Amino acid sequence: MKVFITRSIPQAGIDILKKKNYEVKVYDKKQNISRNEIIKHAFNADAIITMLTDKIDDYIISRLPNLKIISNFAVGYNNIDIESASQHNIMVANTPGVLTEATADTAFALLISAGRRIVESDKFMRNGKFKGWEPMLMLGTEMRGKTVGVIGAGRIGTAFAKRCLGFGMKIIYFSRSKNNSFEEALNAKKVTLNKLLEKSDFISIHIPLNKNTFHLLGKKELSKMKPTAVLVNTARGEIVDEKELIKLLKSKRIFAAGFDVYEGEPKVDRELLKLNNVVLLPHIGSATFETRSKIAEMASLNIINTFVKKRPIHFVNEELLELYAVKKMSII
Ligand code: GLV
Repeated sequence: MKVFITRSIPQAGIDILKKKNYEVKVYDKKQNISRNEIIKHAFNADAIITMLTDKIDDYIISRLPNLKIISNFAVGYNNIDIESASQHNIMVANTPGVLTEATADTAFALLISAGRRIVESDKFMRNGKFKGWEPMLMLGTEMRGKTVGVIGAGRIGTAFAKRCLGFGMKIIYFSRSKNNSFEEALNAKKVTLNKLLEKSDFISIHIPLNKNTFHLLGKKELSKMKPTAVLVNTARGEIVDEKELIKLLKSKRIFAAGFDVYEGEPKVDRELLKLNNVVLLPHIGSATFETRSKIAEMASLNIINTFVKKRPIHFVNEELLELYAVKKMSII
């Protein structure tokens, strides 16, 4: 089997494939691969491991004749045209589970950093502005006793909410369906999105990006937040109307925000860079040595499972594929 990997990944993932005698080709430049290079390098590939920075659309998919599986090195798969993959009888896989704790840590780190002005304080020190302790210096938002609104009660939302519970916060959540185990474990209440925005002192986003969640937090929704609120996004930038959020942050209509993801990534709005009440991270939600190794392993295991058991472990387009697949599974 030929596997093409669009960027260097932890060796653990490559070793798994090599042990099975798969022929592995890695695009090892220190930059994102171009669309034409994907087509060129993956032309004969049976499987590809793609990054969330690769836009795998119909143009690419329809030019890879041997491809049977797209294994995304991420839990989010909004970078892949799932419909097109299904129409071409190609399976799509992702890596849920292995990055839950690391991502929840990042969201929580952003929450504390933005609420307690940690990065702003660090800049203050480096700029030589510290003239000694002051009773009113760098006051931030206390966490204990506050309400945190969790948007999305899946794996990462749950892990994040557990951290909040440990810090003495009350939890409310918004999600498509009621999550009983979330409610029981976290003493949490499901509310409407509007209620969550109105009631929360802290808000954190843990839902996938798709056509239903694009700009879920638009101008109208964002304007419902408390003036003291802190908003954190470790999911996908496009879930929030970033321009509107920047307006609110600029006019101090909300207290602060923490970003790990951006609308139109990797571009970052210049206005954002000028604000003191934001913490900006370079999409490092799952960036620990341990987790990235596990993601690499999972991405490879998804491929191996496809060829051994005719399905990846984490199958994204199973239902769609059933709809489209004429020669279903006979491809392998
Ligand atoms: C990271 O953003 C991921 O989706 O895994």
